[in-house]
Amino acid sequence: MSNRAMIDSRTQAEAIRRGVDVKVLPTHIALIMDGNGRWAQRRGMPRLLGHREGYRTLRTVLLSASEVGVRYLTAYAFSAENWKRPADEVAGLMKLIEKAARTELSVMHRNNVRVRVAGRLDGLPSSLRDALEESIETTRNNAGIGFTLAINYGGRAEVVDAVREIVREGVAIDAIDEETVSDRLYNPDVPEPDLMIRTAGEMRWSNFLIWQAAYTELVVTDVDWPDFNPDHLFDAIAEYQGRVRKYGGL
Ligand code: IPE
Ligand code: IPE
Ligand code: MG
Repeated sequence: MSNRAMIDSRTQAEAIRRGVDVKVLPTHIALIMDGNGRWAQRRGMPRLLGHREGYRTLRTVLLSASEVGVRYLTAYAFSAENWKRPADEVAGLMKLIEKAARTELSVMHRNNVRVRVAGRLDGLPSSLRDALEESIETTRNNAGIGFTLAINYGGRAEVVDAVREIVREGVAIDAIDEETVSDRLYNPDVPEPDLMIRTAGEMRWSNFLIWQAAYTELVVTDVDWPDFNPDHLFDAIAEYQGRVRKYGGL
């Protein structure tokens, strides 16, 4: 089982019904999971309940992406700038992510998911770091969907970390090209995203994958992340498949 994806013909049939061509899927989808707070506030609930609902959504969407045949999914869970939020929300998020990492590990492993993380892990609580490292280690040889959790992640910080590494290695100035930088990002073995989906309507990147997303197709939906479901994922893929990618050419 370790060398196959978990493609499911029923999930593929649903995607096809929503207009997806399952033969030419985006290889890598990036998700800006926004709107948890607004979703909760509109219901008169504390923001953290929105985050809890959002984590359930992520599990569902990850497994659907895997079943339809997407190879990589990267989800923005906590940005390097999110530390600016009230301390109780930050602490609640850290606890939620740690608990999710621990309880979902068996689900990930059973579904042949390979877990990676992107971000400055040394800035996280040590028990959360331990939980993430266990997930990475346990799933290291899984060959299903590659799932990257971006946590304490900033796109600019990632480029800064790559530059530091280049200087540390003493790379000659004339030898530096775009590949020199790409090779030193957090997960150089993961291809650049083809499609980036942002929920909750905001038309911005918020410092997510700014290097890798140079030619990524962006789809923004007004749906709040907790309400996002596999049909929304398939709609975004279908929209992506209607785009013409030109990479500066004709
Ligand atoms: C996204 O939801 C999750 C994180 C940034 C951690 P938000 O918490 O940003 O939700 P809104 O934007 O306030 O609705
Ligand atoms: C982006 O959402 C970060 C995550 C989804 C983790 P934010 O809610 O932090 O982005 P801004 O503040 O609206 O740009
Ligand atoms: Mg937000």
